[in-house]
Amino acid sequence: MRTRVGIIGAGPAGLTLAHLLRLHGIDSVVLEARSREYVERRVRAGVLEHPTVELLREAGVAERLDREGMPHHGLSLRFDGADHRIALTDLTGKSITVYGQQEVVKDLIAARLDAGEPIAFEVSDVRPHDVETDRPYITYVDADGTRRRLDCEVIAGCDGSHGVSHTVAPSATHAHDYPFAWLGVLAKAPPSHSELIYTHHERGFALHSMRTPEITRLYLQVPPEERIENWSDERIWDELGRRLTADGFTLTTGPILEKGITTMRSVVTEPMRHGRLFLAGDAAHIVPPTGAKGMNLAIHDVSVLAEALARYFGEGRTDLLDAYSDTCLRRVWRAQHFSWWMTSMLHQAPGADDFQRRLQLSQLRYTATSTAAATSLAENYVGLPYK
Ligand code: FAD
Ligand code: DHB
Repeated sequence: MRTRVGIIGAGPAGLTLAHLLRLHGIDSVVLEARSREYVERRVRAGVLEHPTVELLREAGVAERLDREGMPHHGLSLRFDGADHRIALTDLTGKSITVYGQQEVVKDLIAARLDAGEPIAFEVSDVRPHDVETDRPYITYVDADGTRRRLDCEVIAGCDGSHGVSHTVAPSATHAHDYPFAWLGVLAKAPPSHSELIYTHHERGFALHSMRTPEITRLYLQVPPEERIENWSDERIWDELGRRLTADGFTLTTGPILEKGITTMRSVVTEPMRHGRLFLAGDAAHIVPPTGAKGMNLAIHDVSVLAEALARYFGEGRTDLLDAYSDTCLRRVWRAQHFSWWMTSMLHQAPGADDFQRRLQLSQLRYTATSTAAATSLAENYVGLPYK
């Protein structure tokens, strides 16, 4: 089999890239290790930046997003038991949209299959070869157990942080581990507040978010080695109630539909290219979740890559492909700093002393009361312009 761009991974990065390439008339094949049902049900991120929404709209895949997504014009920083609203739209003119990552994935899969374009689900033993040459290829075993070879001109490694692509590129990695993890729950309970609440509390960070008017998404800071078996539904609601306490606030509870623990890491792969292999999204970088940048960065990477590939295949120009890694890494490092800053300001570090806690509270108060500081948070949160 032959295609122009072999795409490994059908997450937000791989599916968005395949869609953008099709709009440019460039054919691609998407190879995905999991089943369609699995990737459509995987609960992960939920906050779309303004430029992400614009991109999905321009690409013609935002019809349901515009109908069902929840636009948010502000968020709360909760500390000292009170809310301090950051008026995102008043400060930046822009908003964010709450819409689950798996909904974005569903919309992109539907668009691709409707167009009769291939996605091979449940493939295994995927391996990129000869990426330093101009005839790279991918070998894999398809869902029927047949061994196959896909010849391409370019390979896009969009297979996330546990994928195979980043192991092929001999790039340097810059990594940082955080001494925290997030316990995330999805609950059949209406949101307790109309906006997201990022809470600094002496017992640890907590986040109130949502997916729909009936479904709440909540997170608790836990130690990185924590096990989900230790957290009964009752214990989760009890801890959320303690941390999310504020005057006039009542936490709405309900059946917990899903719960899980995610560790927090920062990783940056430099460069994001090796010959004809281009890494995008979590395959190239991981951010801690505070600030919700992971999926948004993945979509930015592939918007840069799609444009560069269109120039390459259409006009033979290589300058944008050559600049791909540097262009993406500028945004990646900005997001790393923002996510690290939000994480450091809001979490309780093990062994932190009273001095450090007072610095955190001072930073929170400053961010909540200075227009300059609030605008800095807001413009990063809604997403800096692409160009
Ligand atoms: P992925 O979504 O990981 O997609 C990669 C795809 O490649 C997957 O479908 C995978 O099955 C497939 N794949 C892997 N290996 C292979 C292989 N060898 N061959 C073929 N296919 C392969 N971000 C936030 O902003 N907020 C959050 O709350 C949040 N929560 C998260 C919770 C978890 C458990 C995880 C893991 C991540 C979370 N993130 C969150 C990060 C965000 O979801 C990611 O940044 C985003 O999914 C990146 O998209 P991607 O397409 O690059 O990678
Ligand atoms: C969500 C996740 C985040 O990491 C965040 O900062 C805000 C919201 C969410 O899943 O809704």
